[in-house]
Amino acid sequence: MPITTCIFDAYGTLFDVAAAARQAAGDPSFAAIKDDWPALAEHWRAKQLQYTWLRAITGSHTDFWEVTQNGLDWALEKTGHSHDPALRERLLALYWELQAYPEVPEMLHTLKNAGMNTAILSNGSPEMLDGAVQSAGIADVLDDSLSVQSVGIFKPDVRVYDLVGQRFGCAKEEVLFVSSNGWDAAGATGYGFTTAWVNRAGEPVDRLPWTPHTTLTNLTGIPALAGV
Ligand code: LAC
Repeated sequence: MPITTCIFDAYGTLFDVAAAARQAAGDPSFAAIKDDWPALAEHWRAKQLQYTWLRAITGSHTDFWEVTQNGLDWALEKTGHSHDPALRERLLALYWELQAYPEVPEMLHTLKNAGMNTAILSNGSPEMLDGAVQSAGIADVLDDSLSVQSVGIFKPDVRVYDLVGQRFGCAKEEVLFVSSNGWDAAGATGYGFTTAWVNRAGEPVDRLPWTPHTTLTNLTGIPALAGV
């Protein structure tokens, strides 16, 4: 069945999650993280994701914004920066206006010009996704931003992937699901989507029961994978 619908994870896939720490580190007011911002960014992301999984399996869902703040607080303490409320505030503000990866606008334009359905499917709250989409200037090439908020559980629960068929009325076989998170691409493969894992950092493949169908190093190959 041909692909009709291209669905993108948000954080790390369309939007560069390390950009907040990198940008803050370039500001002389936050010279304290000049050297260790990569570690701060990595801990922040890792804890944010762990908290989503822990909240999902314990039935204690909350807003992605809360786990984003919880993950940052852990990461700031871990890297010795928890005494700096201005840094915390700046990093959180930057999370609402993360940069998109450079190839994102053209890739989405190509898909839209070919008549594809395009949307985000993310753990992010609708407000966070709206902020990121607006600041990246890609609202006109996305049909929708689907948030887990409407089902009250985080990825990779199947109720999240169900949102795609509910929104677009398409079969699983018509969906190309794209994520930079190996576990998300794997979960979506198990669900029945055709999947692409965007492995920018050259990470090892996740040892899970499912493997992404295709691995790419950036998003430029997505239109070809979608048959455009
Ligand atoms: C998201 C996270 C998992 O956007 O990157 O859903």
